[in-house]
Amino acid sequence: MTPAIATVTLVVDGRPVAVEAGLSVAAALARAGDGITRTSVSGMARAPLCGMGVCQECRVDIDGRRMLACQTTCRDGMAVTTGLPRPARQSHHLPGTTP
Ligand code: FES
Repeated sequence: MTPAIATVTLVVDGRPVAVEAGLSVAAALARAGDGITRTSVSGMARAPLCGMGVCQECRVDIDGRRMLACQTTCRDGMAVTTGLPRPARQSHHLPGTTP
């Protein structure tokens, strides 16, 4: 018999997301959708790049504090707020591609 995988549920932009325990918030965002964390000053969608705390592209608000998603392990009940407006998140696509 395969052991059950422990999960945690966090809330991303008001939406509950269940992921495996031990996952980073950046991985949870990718697993739950498009992985977008914020927008640049010009309004372009940004996502984790380095995965090791250097580029700062994964900044999100976690329980009201600005943190790096790639350096933060998911906890049950954690509230994650990205900087991407909901309509932009729903229509996100890479430049040069069709949605
Ligand atoms: S992905 Fe580069 S700092 Fe988190």
